Amino acid sequence: MILPINIYSDDVLRRKARPLKGVDGAIVELVESMFESMRNAAGIGLAAPQVGHSLRLLVLDVSCVSNYEDEKPMVVINPHILAVRGSNEMEEGCLSVPGVQGDVVRPASLTLKYRDEHFEERIGDFSGMVARVLQHEIDHLNGTLFVDRLEKRDRRKIQKELEALSSGVVNAAYPVVTRDVVMISKPS
Ligand code: NI
Repeated sequence: MILPINIYSDDVLRRKARPLKGVDGAIVELVESMFESMRNAAGIGLAAPQVGHSLRLLVLDVSCVSNYEDEKPMVVINPHILAVRGSNEMEEGCLSVPGVQGDVVRPASLTLKYRDEHFEERIGDFSGMVARVLQHEIDHLNGTLFVDRLEKRDRRKIQKELEALSSGVVNAAYPVVTRDVVMISKPS
């Protein structure tokens, strides 16, 4: 099922999400819906708060990005960053902040402890695009958006766009929920 995406000023995006205690049928269904919603919106990562569930759960699939075609989709539950290394700058966007992009500096690679879709504990090292998307999505679980991490100068440049999103003016090619009203708009 395609779920509407919560937009910028929504409270659910600012909460610290709670850990999962296990994976039941409802979570399996939510994970499927998150993959469907992410792909429908041409996204490469999606965190549960973005579809209105304040849970420490995210999905990612970067296989549509060139040089990452062989990357498998991932389900990440209750992630803990154990270590980070290096740093780089990349342009980011977010399905919850449509129409806005900006350069964000983050660690280049990380070691992550998490649970997979079967709630099995895993530890993995990630770099490149996967490390980038993981950190962006883990931020969502802590109520942080990529625009919070922009340099002040870059943040000022997008202030108008953010104000428009806050006032409910959303132009997205996928279903969104804004100000408790579900709006579906397609750019012409
Ligand atoms: Ni995002």
